[in-house]
Amino acid sequence: MTEEYLADKNVYGPGTELLELINKNIIDFKRYELIILDVGFNDPASFILLHYLHGLKIYKGIDFKAKQDFNINISFKDRIPEEMVTSNKIEPFERYELFYKYVLTQWNEVNKLMLNQVEFESIFQFVFETKIQDYIKSSEFELFSPNIIFVSNLLHLISDKREAENIFVQLLNELAEDGIIWIKIYNSRSESNSYRFPYSESEIKGLEKHMETIYKDEQDDKTLIIGKKKKTGVKDIQPNASP
Ligand SMILES: C[S@@+](CC[C@H](N)C(=O)[O-])C[C@H]1O[C@@H](n2cnc3c(N)ncnc32)[C@H](O)[C@@H]1O
Repeated sequence: MTEEYLADKNVYGPGTELLELINKNIIDFKRYELIILDVGFNDPASFILLHYLHGLKIYKGIDFKAKQDFNINISFKDRIPEEMVTSNKIEPFERYELFYKYVLTQWNEVNKLMLNQVEFESIFQFVFETKIQDYIKSSEFELFSPNIIFVSNLLHLISDKREAENIFVQLLNELAEDGIIWIKIYNSRSESNSYRFPYSESEIKGLEKHMETIYKDEQDDKTLIIGKKKKTGVKDIQPNASP
């Protein structure tokens, strides 16, 4: 599967980006099954694609959005019958059925069958109307041990950077020992506004000091960093503690 092939299919999102890095042998996941926590998932289409092209065991998405806002991917609207897209009452499994029938079947590599609802819901778990700040305090979070955590386009939405760093460290603490954490963040080349709080180079380094960075990519006004736990373990930082 080539990069051009992925780009050609217009499935945007972190799942597709991960597939590209796996294809380039930058990330090697052959050793274990993927157990994913996706913080602020918005649109899980690229992870459904990841399931079909690579395989994943569990995908759990957290978002404070309400169920009714769930939208599989705006770019596929022209392929999906309009009356289905415009219904805002649609549940994740129905969205998945549409995505499978109208989008995934166009991929020659997709030779796995459509999942039934029980199978779908045992792999793809969505936690709606939940802030990550609340989720990390829950027992569900403590019991879930992901080997890959996505914090993609999220940390710069939190105005209090100390709070964002604390969330990041708590997520890192729950990562399986051999797992990776994926952060995509607006950097200093990006303009700030009332809902976007870009990270300076030293602030990005401040996040990196908690982990061992294994890959870093400057993408114009965003920076992608992939890291794993430091061998020595990570200490909790206290919210609002003095630096
Ligand atoms: C810009 S989208 C990023 C979507 C996806 N992760 C990506 O990289 O394409 C940010 C998402 O995070 C959600 N979000 C923002 N702050 C959040 C929070 N504190 N807890 C949970 N979800 C949050 C928003 O509702 C939105 O769906």
